[in-house]
Amino acid sequence: MDLIPAPVRCHVDDGAPGHTLDATTTLTAGPGAEATARWLRGELGAATGFPLPPDSGRSGIRLLTDDRVRAELGEEGYRLTVDAGGTAVVGGGPAGVFWGAQTLRQLLGPEAFRRAPLPGRVWRLPHARIEDRPRFGWRGMMLDVARHFLPKDAVLRYVDLLAAHKLNVLHLHLTDDQGWRVEILRHPRLTEVGAWRPRSRRGHRASPLWDDTPHGGFYTQDDVREIVAYAAARHVRVVPEIDVPGHSQAAIAAYPWLGNADAADTAALGVWDDWGVSENVLAPTDEVLRFYEGVFEELLGLFPAETSPFVHVGGDECPKEQWRRSPAAQARIRELGLADEEELQSWFIRHFDRWLADRGRRLIGWDEILEGGLADGAAVSSWRGYAGGIAAAAAGHDVVMCPEQQVYLDHRQDGGPHEPVPIGYVRTLEDVYRFEPVPPELDAAAAAHVLGAQANVWTEVMEDQSRVDYQVFPRLVAFAEVVWSELPGPAERDWAGFRDRMTGHFRRLDALGVDYRPPGGPSPWQRRPGVLGRPIEGPPPNV
Ligand code: ACM
Repeated sequence: MDLIPAPVRCHVDDGAPGHTLDATTTLTAGPGAEATARWLRGELGAATGFPLPPDSGRSGIRLLTDDRVRAELGEEGYRLTVDAGGTAVVGGGPAGVFWGAQTLRQLLGPEAFRRAPLPGRVWRLPHARIEDRPRFGWRGMMLDVARHFLPKDAVLRYVDLLAAHKLNVLHLHLTDDQGWRVEILRHPRLTEVGAWRPRSRRGHRASPLWDDTPHGGFYTQDDVREIVAYAAARHVRVVPEIDVPGHSQAAIAAYPWLGNADAADTAALGVWDDWGVSENVLAPTDEVLRFYEGVFEELLGLFPAETSPFVHVGGDECPKEQWRRSPAAQARIRELGLADEEELQSWFIRHFDRWLADRGRRLIGWDEILEGGLADGAAVSSWRGYAGGIAAAAAGHDVVMCPEQQVYLDHRQDGGPHEPVPIGYVRTLEDVYRFEPVPPELDAAAAAHVLGAQANVWTEVMEDQSRVDYQVFPRLVAFAEVVWSELPGPAERDWAGFRDRMTGHFRRLDALGVDYRPPGGPSPWQRRPGVLGRPIEGPPPNV
């Protein structure tokens, strides 16, 4: 079978009778499976043209939850059985039913991923018995919608693409120097001013090209509610990120007093039109803390605790130059009894750690939040290699592994001359397939703090959905198998077997309309001749 991600146990018997679907096939849901039934009826109904009405009988497709399956396979685990009498998906909980239904769709063939029936298709599920459960509870992708905005529909589409691969976390990088992407009612200039820039550099920093089309966009609060609910119905949790105290120039352009006005002419700042890390960072004042408490207060209302227990506060790449030059920041360091600017950053993050904990949420931040002392309940996104994650896990903090040398999907996927705007190291599909989220340095107790992993998609050189698709696929498929399936160690992984299954999976991606990188290299229209990237030569370091 070409199922991806590979199930834990799978027995398919092509010689035995399967279950043929037709216009009389019923689809029935037990308690906890109703939402998945609605989803499956929508998807399969569109692809097959069959109505799939509910029925109380024991034939057809049945979706159930079961305590024994939960005890054996967990909340997200499921058992799927197909024989001539019908098909049953039994989940440990509602999420397990949903992942099982995703497997069911894969069993029907690539046309099951289309939105209208093709003529003459026979819909047959093979005789099968599958038992499955995920390796990790955090199986994520981060989408940078700040550098290039992705409209709401494109985000909903990505939720579907994640769910089709049994990924369950969408981390939205909502703010950065180059744009603020979420409506905050009490601070309207964040989107009036901060959500657009007059032009963008085309290519990486050294590129001389500019695109003079104004770029921007933002999600209204209702858009966010829709995204969160749409994701929740697909068992995808959304982690919002508001990046502080660095990566904040768009916010400072909207409200110059948020910046260090005694160290820079913040009133003259616009939303940044270049790439890189801006020197313009937040001022360490009480007024700035109150402002961002207001931002987070609105955010907590949009991202409910049940589906968004974690709130990401960024914390990465905060240049300290303005704080060194600012008399007010220096006075603040003395007043707070801090040693230096590193501790000032730590003070900033700790404030929001306590603030979020008081409201029943958990802070997560990039691994720079380890510097100057990690706040008590904080979790770490380990991006500068594994080292931050190893240190945090050893100290008893939860970790999401997303090392840039392994799973930054903005990095180029081939060393050839035709990769569009090549960035960073060569990280092939096979490299991602051999990514291991738990480094050997961790003992069992520390390894238990690795919640999982995520692939990060930074969009400086991805100007639209098609470019994002190209960078993300097919590598996200390999990533999905790494975080879901029980694979052996990196060297022993069955790369050839995975590549064979990809043959069938590319046909699913075709049906879904995904603009992936073809195995032989980019199609002519996927190239960006003459647009400079920043390739790094040589193999990536491992940590
Ligand atoms: C990051 O890549 N700056 C988290």
